[in-house]
Amino acid sequence: MKISNRLKTIASLVPKDAKIMDVGCDHALLDIFLVSEGRISSAVASDVRMGPIVTASRNVKDFGYEDKIELLVSDGIEKIKPDIDTVIISGMGGLNIIDILSKNLNLLKNVQTLILSPHSDIKKLRDFLEKTGYMIACEKVVFDNKYYVVMKLNRGKMKLSEEEKLLGPYLISHMDRDTENYFRYVLQKRREILSQLPSSLTFKKKELKKEIEMIETILDE
Ligand SMILES: C[S@@+](CC[C@H](N)C(=O)[O-])C[C@H]1O[C@@H](n2cnc3c(N)ncnc32)[C@H](O)[C@@H]1O
Repeated sequence: MKISNRLKTIASLVPKDAKIMDVGCDHALLDIFLVSEGRISSAVASDVRMGPIVTASRNVKDFGYEDKIELLVSDGIEKIKPDIDTVIISGMGGLNIIDILSKNLNLLKNVQTLILSPHSDIKKLRDFLEKTGYMIACEKVVFDNKYYVVMKLNRGKMKLSEEEKLLGPYLISHMDRDTENYFRYVLQKRREILSQLPSSLTFKKKELKKEIEMIETILDE
């Protein structure tokens, strides 16, 4: 089965035989791939909207996985079941992911692993996760027409510096070519934003300058 590099990278971080809930599954292709690869035997694929669930249901049926992939209309993790040990949330903004998790922190008590791929506000998300009692076990950068970050977290404590919140502690300490290119991209974006900000936004400008310096230091520029 063919899926995007982004979804393949997410799949590679799922523990073998995990009991997963894929929140915001959309098409459920990730869940179908995971089952077809034998990495997991079953999955709960959920979405807040009925449209994606209808599409997912068609895809699940096409693969004959109706008895393996349960489809659920759920706002975030509100309908999580007690046997779920791994929650996947990908393809959403970081603030939406924070909202989904923070609304129902008590429902995460059996969840040992989070696999998250936010497309914005990653710094705020890492900051939230530090306070929530999860630690980053692995992070990967994948280029799939644009850059995506995927992170895997296990239960535990972490203490992140400002640089680590911005760029990811694992990515900084395992910097490969893709990661370095991603950091350069983040640096470029911040330089562009800074050059376009009106001078009245002094606080935002100061914050951006600080972040630019941090990235330059890490890249040894
Ligand atoms: C861009 S798609 C990402 C699909 C898939 N996870 C991926 O990474 O390819 C985002 C999906 O998240 C769903 N979504 C947004 N907010 C949600 C929430 N609070 N709870 C569940 N699903 C949500 C949307 O309906 C949409 O289907």
